Amino acid sequence: MKALMVYISVHHGNTEKVARAMAKILDADLVQVKQVDAIMLEQYDLIGFGSGIYFGKHHESLLDFVDKLPVVKNKKAFIFSTSGLRKIPFVHDFDKPLRKKLQRKGFDIMGEFSCRGLDTYRATKLVGGVNKGRPNAEDLKQAEDFARDLKNSGDSYLNQILLSN
Ligand SMILES: Cc1cc2nc3c(=O)[nH]c(=O)nc-3n(C[C@H](O)[C@H](O)[C@H](O)COP(=O)(O)O)c2cc1C
Repeated sequence: MKALMVYISVHHGNTEKVARAMAKILDADLVQVKQVDAIMLEQYDLIGFGSGIYFGKHHESLLDFVDKLPVVKNKKAFIFSTSGLRKIPFVHDFDKPLRKKLQRKGFDIMGEFSCRGLDTYRATKLVGGVNKGRPNAEDLKQAEDFARDLKNSGDSYLNQILLSN
């Protein structure tokens, strides 16, 4: 299973740490959103999309990139992020805008991963930020476990296709 991860990590490089941990397990190519061309995606079976969370959603440049993609067929995707606050369904479901856009483009979403990241935005700066030291070793281990699960389910999916052909 060939994997690509498209990300942007502008605040403290938090999401980049998570992206690198996952890419190692998935043996994925890792590219920043400003360096990626939609045509590149054609070569991959699985594509990860990730960034920090800004005003309740993924980074605008990642959302814009997805908007410009053509509709795809038989492409798997996953979503990842780091954020100041934890995801709370219906209240702070910051994956929703990206999830909806990917689904509208025909991606089959295999999973979503999120962990806390150092946040020094606004008043939090006065106390040196919140979530100090995060993503930490435990967060990165969980990111690796998530990637391992993706790899296993992706491989069995490809095997099923090969067997049925
Ligand atoms: C301008 C700004 C807006 C943010 N908005 C949110 C938000 O709405 N919800 C949240 O949980 N975290 C928010 N954060 C915290 C970031 O999501 C968090 O620090 C993240 O780990 C940054 O990732 P990065 O270093 O990869 O860019 C915000 C941070 C900044 C600088």
